[in-house]
Amino acid sequence: MAFPLHFLLFPIMITSLPISPIDSKLTVGYYQKTCPNFEKVIRETVTSKQITSPVTAAGTLRLFFHDCFVDGCDASVLIASNSFNKAEREAEINHSLSGDAFDVVTHAKTHLELSCPGIVSCADILAQATRDLVVMVGGPFYNVRLGRKDGMVSKLEHVEGNLPEVKHTVDELVDFFGQRGFSIQEMVALSGGHTIGFSHCKEFSDRLFNFSATTPTDPDIYPKFADKLKEMCANRDKDTSMSAFNDVMTPGKFDNMYYQNLPRGLGLLATDHALVKDPRTKPFVDLYAVNQTAFFHDFAHAMEKLSVFEVKTGRKGEVRRKCDLFNSIKT
Ligand code: HEM
Ligand SMILES: *[C@@H]1O[C@H](CO)[C@@H](O)[C@H](O)[C@H]1NC(C)=O
Ligand SMILES: *[C@@H]1O[C@H](CO)[C@@H](O)[C@H](O)[C@H]1NC(C)=O
Ligand SMILES: *[C@@H]1O[C@H](CO)[C@@H](O)[C@H](O)[C@H]1NC(C)=O
Repeated sequence: MAFPLHFLLFPIMITSLPISPIDSKLTVGYYQKTCPNFEKVIRETVTSKQITSPVTAAGTLRLFFHDCFVDGCDASVLIASNSFNKAEREAEINHSLSGDAFDVVTHAKTHLELSCPGIVSCADILAQATRDLVVMVGGPFYNVRLGRKDGMVSKLEHVEGNLPEVKHTVDELVDFFGQRGFSIQEMVALSGGHTIGFSHCKEFSDRLFNFSATTPTDPDIYPKFADKLKEMCANRDKDTSMSAFNDVMTPGKFDNMYYQNLPRGLGLLATDHALVKDPRTKPFVDLYAVNQTAFFHDFAHAMEKLSVFEVKTGRKGEVRRKCDLFNSIKT
């Protein structure tokens, strides 16, 4: 399978959202004087990683989303557990986050510590790397304001309830995103992140084998697609690594195919398919399915907003020396 590579040659500038007080210290040029190589190092690191491992972009986008929704975009997801503290990652492993995404941040940090030690936060690296990777696989450019500090807390208990799950109804998803300040339209646009990457069988096998009392398979799934998935997931209990592309038509390309798939029964997760069934979300699915420009515009804005979600500045955080360790040992 070919992964089209759209290098950062002609980024389309998207105008910034009004800056709210919480992120007033974040600026696009934050490292201009203190680490002028920042942009170049991130771009080069993600480019070579994505070429050798084309799953990096999707893995990193998901890692970033999870980082932001659990205690803000503060790299708390990168902290390793120790005997005193079970970190977010402990739960994240259950959510099968990609090792390549952790690696790309570590590589960039190692390079940056050589040229500007102690200056660039892991949270900023993850935010900027995510944007560059989205662009690299064909998605829209958006501004990433910088100056996030790395969080001082990473707890397994904080994950539960702070990430959406496939069993959630649209009502629950609307509440969940709404409580975090995201509109229904923004939620539908962000869900378009599922235009890349993959999901493990256990995340959609209920739709195949255990749909309802009257039918084992969700009748909305396009029958041939359901057959293929069933075949692939037949051994799901023994082989938990089996997974399917989130966007079966153009799995490695960031485009609006995700929305075109949904009305055809080619959506993978229950929460994906639900977006085309609910009258509150369907209008946006329909819009993005016919107009990729509208999707890219709204996705870019929603990502800018996600990127500053509950960020920490000043003394509310630190610049970690290593992305998987707090600078001082926590008990
Ligand atoms: C609307 C609620 C959402 C739910 C219920 C959800 C759920 C999931 C699940 C279950 C997976 C598969 C994980 C696995 O089996 O490895 C997944 C993958 C993914 N999600 Fe979401 N997600 C949601 C929203 C988002 C958002 C907002 C983004 C980013 C903007 C996102 C980006 C991704 C990406 C890129 C992958 C593929 C990861 C990879 O290939 O490594 N998701 N999601
Ligand atoms: C993750 O899996 C481990 C081991 O199976 C389990 O102890 C832990 O409770 C799980 N965490 C979550 C949040 O599901
Ligand atoms: C099938 O679905 C029901 C209802 O959602 C659930 O309680 C049950 O555990 C599921 N069975 C299997 C084998 O996954
Ligand atoms: C697609 O959306 C863009 C951005 O919202 C809009 O300017 C454009 O007119 C739309 N195109 C069509 C064909 O509706």
